[in-house]
Amino acid sequence: MEYTFPVTRTTHPKPRPEDETKLGFAKYFTDHMFVMDYDVGQGWHDGRVVPHEPFLIEPACAVLHYAQEMFEGMKAYRTADGRILLFRPDKNIERMKNTNERMCIPELPGDLFLSAVKAVIKEDMDWVPSAPGTALYIRPFIFGNEVSFSVLPAQHYTFMIILSPVGSYYASNDGGLSTSRIYVSDNYIRAARGGTGYAKVGGNYGNAMRASADAMKANCKDVLWLDAAENKYVEEIGTSNAFFRISDEVITAPLTDGTILPGITRRSVIELLKSWGEKVSERKLSIDEITEASKNGTLQEVFASGTAAVISPIGCLHYKGVDYPVADQKVGPVAQKLYDNLYGMQTGALPDVMGWTYQLF
Ligand code: COI
Repeated sequence: MEYTFPVTRTTHPKPRPEDETKLGFAKYFTDHMFVMDYDVGQGWHDGRVVPHEPFLIEPACAVLHYAQEMFEGMKAYRTADGRILLFRPDKNIERMKNTNERMCIPELPGDLFLSAVKAVIKEDMDWVPSAPGTALYIRPFIFGNEVSFSVLPAQHYTFMIILSPVGSYYASNDGGLSTSRIYVSDNYIRAARGGTGYAKVGGNYGNAMRASADAMKANCKDVLWLDAAENKYVEEIGTSNAFFRISDEVITAPLTDGTILPGITRRSVIELLKSWGEKVSERKLSIDEITEASKNGTLQEVFASGTAAVISPIGCLHYKGVDYPVADQKVGPVAQKLYDNLYGMQTGALPDVMGWTYQLF
């Protein structure tokens, strides 16, 4: 079912970013946003599209203290013939359902979610960029919006969607792919069994900032997390999932312990590689196996995958004060092929052989 919502258009449209090749990530926000409320006994109600502007929040609002919230990340792409496409929105809906269940946030029906995304993008369609490597980033989020210091699920929630025209999260200077240095954290952990690692919640990222600060000090762009139990197996990168190509096997951490975010790009990478006949494994991979592969020349590629990160090649891992180069530290062929095919399908430049795109307009 498709829902419709009342729209209040802004009276102060913002100037568009001047140069689409220098959008950065979430530096600009569009003119409108979506807002909807939930009350126990009433369900989701009063969905509306309104101008994107700051809103009032009570300082005693529970989310500011106990972080009962979730978010999603999606992108809308402009095709050369002017259509607007989403990428596998059914997978965002599936993940949102799992996150909400974990966080005691009420379920938001998939068709209501998708209608809301459509309604707000309809108002800001001309903000969807078309320069190579760009997209309109969609950030849906829900928070417990209740004045309470009880450590209990809220009775009232707010669902919002905001939009930002973006380039890649790990921008290179020329808009193409380039490699990054990544810091392997051996003293902090991201997620343990039974925790919220598989859910898309702000707390997972707030918890990461101490290690991110260490990564910046070591001149690295982000953190590669090790498992909480043994500090031995690679898990994921701060913003994204991680893939390692060693002796022609592409390896990523399995989802089975519930400590890995089930990335939609992660899943698409696995499915694409399989369709190309590559050897792909979802298995535990120790940091020692990786450093050894770097030393003996079998570490062919490392790359991150994510909605924001797209496919981001990694040229060097920094672990316990030592640099472990990845092959010749240049963008690897598998990462490049994945990027070209994914972004090509997402923007309609290549045929959608996997049936992953969803035409919004
Ligand atoms: C995304 O890729 O959509 C994310 O939510 C990652 C975020 C930390 C930038």
